[in-house]
Amino acid sequence: MCGIVGYTGNKAALPILIGGLKKLEYRGYDSAGIAIGGPSAFILRRCKGKVSALDKLVSSEKINGKTGLGHTRWATHGQPSEENAHPHTDCRGRIVVVHNGIIENYIALRKKLKAKKHKFRSETDTEIIPHLIEEKLKKEKNLLKAVRKAIADIRGSYALGIMSSDEPGTIIAARKDTPLIIGLGKNENFIASDIPAILKHTRDIILLDDMETAVIKPDSVAVFDSAGRTVKKKISRIRWNPSMAEREGYRHFMLKEIFEQPRAIQDTLRGKLNPAKGYIHLEDIGLTVPYVKKIRKIFIVACGTAYHAGMVGKFLIEKMLGIPCETDIASEFRYRSPVMNKSDLFIIISQSGETADTLAALRMAKKRGLKTLSICNVIGSSAARETNGMIFTHAGPEIGVASTKAFTTQLIALYLLTLYLGRIRGAIPRQEAVRIMTAILNIPQQIRLILRKSKAIAKTARKYSKKRDFLYIGRNLNYPIALEGALKLKEISYIHAEGYAAGEMKHGPIALIDKDMPIVAIATAGGVYEKLLSNVQEARARNGIIIAVANTGDKNISKSASDVLCVPVTLEELSPLLNVIPLQLLSYYIALYRRCDIDQPRNLAKSVVVE
Ligand code: G6P
Repeated sequence: MCGIVGYTGNKAALPILIGGLKKLEYRGYDSAGIAIGGPSAFILRRCKGKVSALDKLVSSEKINGKTGLGHTRWATHGQPSEENAHPHTDCRGRIVVVHNGIIENYIALRKKLKAKKHKFRSETDTEIIPHLIEEKLKKEKNLLKAVRKAIADIRGSYALGIMSSDEPGTIIAARKDTPLIIGLGKNENFIASDIPAILKHTRDIILLDDMETAVIKPDSVAVFDSAGRTVKKKISRIRWNPSMAEREGYRHFMLKEIFEQPRAIQDTLRGKLNPAKGYIHLEDIGLTVPYVKKIRKIFIVACGTAYHAGMVGKFLIEKMLGIPCETDIASEFRYRSPVMNKSDLFIIISQSGETADTLAALRMAKKRGLKTLSICNVIGSSAARETNGMIFTHAGPEIGVASTKAFTTQLIALYLLTLYLGRIRGAIPRQEAVRIMTAILNIPQQIRLILRKSKAIAKTARKYSKKRDFLYIGRNLNYPIALEGALKLKEISYIHAEGYAAGEMKHGPIALIDKDMPIVAIATAGGVYEKLLSNVQEARARNGIIIAVANTGDKNISKSASDVLCVPVTLEELSPLLNVIPLQLLSYYIALYRRCDIDQPRNLAKSVVVE
């Protein structure tokens, strides 16, 4: 996720771009840049760090140009650095491009362009775009036509802002699977990734749709479909106040992030699965085939929500690969005496990549000579830099302290890894891999179905929002989900909640159950379904209130449960991905009814960089 803003009009572009970028920093802030039309060439300024660093860089300059593009970056391809910061240019600096998204076939395109003598200066996927346009302009006279030809060669997702010094005052915009809006003003127009960037200047916007391109000039906006036909677009008037706009109208970042999960998962999967061939593209994590074949044991170490993802990973790895796997909490791992061998693979999971205990555990494993891998949401983070390989979760910046979209994308990374290792080691037959991949690709749509029922979940939440204690129970792959559900509730609502392996209830927690105790039971289809039903009966017999997470249409569970939070049917292995969604929403709405500070709960921090 990155932020884009563009301006063309009769005012100086610089302050408008800087102001807009500051509003988009929630989308990423590891480097920033601007390109502004000058008398003969573009004035290009880029730097590592936040928009404030860019602001400082240009503060003493007189940049008066009235057309420009700005970008704040969340690194995906290439470290945060000045070279990798946008805008990127063609060989001659006559075309500038800002991009948000991922170009999947950039390696092949880069190779082709290099063969045609194009000079690349960054490690980004984006840089192929200005060069591709430069190439197309050899045959096309008009920038729009060249852009359309260029994007026809691209596979992936993009929101693009493009300028050429041959067409001063014009911005070309294009979009596929990544948001881009056009803001309409008087003798001035804007583009932006999101409304807050331009809300100070206009409330009239056009939402660009997938495969559309637009030509934006100070006094006109023309939108075209993929065939080049003019499209008549609806103008929407935005009534949000500025702080609502940052949350895209959602009341809290946490809710926005819960609803972003289908997109985040799609982005994490993008370009990785090829179900037709039963192939998983994960070569870039740097594990060679001979090494993969020799792995004897896998360690997964993490904290908090990431640890729960790691617990699901253990189930997957042991069940699907037959490799022993130990998952541990980093703060425990670093102070015990784990038996590690050089042929073991060491994985850390961390949203921020900066959690002190997780990094300490990683350094311990490195000292013992293990190969290391991170599953991480921040490209330039310590975790990413210090591990041999990385699986990047494309969740985008997570602002709510309670982790949601980072968790589900961490799970996706673990599925990808398991499938990848399983295919190399021959532990997962091709047909089985295809079956799982097909079901994974269906997950974003299934999550959307759950999200559509959020009102019903809010109703359940309201009923129980005054309770003092909650129990969450699950078994097997969904035991970690019970832990995660309980963690979400205590983090943001301050209600005491415990996650338990359902089969352990009889060894203690069942003593807690009475008519005031809600028990959230994860009871979706699978090998332990009937056992879970028995555990539910035991709780019911002690007058416990059962809130079940169950498959839509499950009649058995509705006999015992007071409330059923429905999820669609998927493969048992994938069920954690769906089951956690209603639990996130349940916690959110309970906290909302209790008027808690949801995005910044008391005593917690988003990233725990001290021991
Ligand atoms: C903090 C956050 C949690 C997160 C944990 C691990 O406790 O509040 O949401 O799961 O740290 O953070 P990491 O960045 O390593 O995933």
